[in-house]
Amino acid sequence: MKPKSLVNIDDYSRDDILRIIETASKFKKHPDRSLLKGLVCGTLFFEPSTRTRLSFETAINRLEGRIIGFSDTATSSATKGESLKDTIMMVSNYTDIIIMRHHLEGSARYASEVSPVPIINAGDGSNQHPTQTMLDIFSIHETQQTLENLTITIVGDLKYGRAVHSLIEGLSHFNPTFNFVAPEEMKIPDKHKLYCDKKSIKYQEFADFSPESINSADILYMTRVQKERFTDLMEYEKVKNVYTLRNEMLKDSKPNLKVLHPLPRVKEIDQDVDNNPKAYYFEQARNGIYTRQAVICDLLNIDVD
Ligand code: CP
Repeated sequence: MKPKSLVNIDDYSRDDILRIIETASKFKKHPDRSLLKGLVCGTLFFEPSTRTRLSFETAINRLEGRIIGFSDTATSSATKGESLKDTIMMVSNYTDIIIMRHHLEGSARYASEVSPVPIINAGDGSNQHPTQTMLDIFSIHETQQTLENLTITIVGDLKYGRAVHSLIEGLSHFNPTFNFVAPEEMKIPDKHKLYCDKKSIKYQEFADFSPESINSADILYMTRVQKERFTDLMEYEKVKNVYTLRNEMLKDSKPNLKVLHPLPRVKEIDQDVDNNPKAYYFEQARNGIYTRQAVICDLLNIDVD
């Protein structure tokens, strides 16, 4: 039988999501435990990362597991032409679980099909970023005390943003209303609108980053325009600074509003927002440690109590 993996956020049911949040809350109170003692975790990053890799590694270190892996493909035998299948087969010889980021959509699914150990998708191209969604949902729950019936305004690169694509699916269990704010070049792809239609999820699309889209929101989810996904850099130049959130734009927002961002940011949130109590993106990134501890223990069937 294949081991359990986390490839797509829809590998998790509503109950799974709620269980991971509850476990992550326990880790937030007590992150240092000996739960991974004797286990080795592989971190294979074929694409750059700061938060995802380092929060996974912090999560594992705090659980006393050991880590092998690479953060730069140039130092792996992929540069000599080794296939993804062979890389996964080799690393699974050495490890109990593999965390992988790769530029190709579908690479994590493929890895999970060939791997004898669990695979965690740490981002596959523009497709999915399920552990980002888990920390986003944890942060939403932490700040709103509920996940139900919230209005989420998502701003920026809705075409290529894997964190956005996963978030829509992850929140689909909780009757959200989405405001999608994007220029024509980065509109949410039809398949995600069809997904919302199928699940009777309400959404509106905006080209302007209007006061209405900010002031109606419980969560304002800003995203970066992802230069690395554009094949035409002229297109990127046209849209790279399309929206910037400034502190004064939050003056009429709801009292419970929190501003989230998967980070890294470039210019889409001005630094004058950072000291506003509604800015939550740095704490959100910290929550990556606890949610990733919860995901790893869940996949390895480790009882955290
Ligand atoms: N949010 C996120 O995936 O950040 P990194 O690219 O730094 O891992």
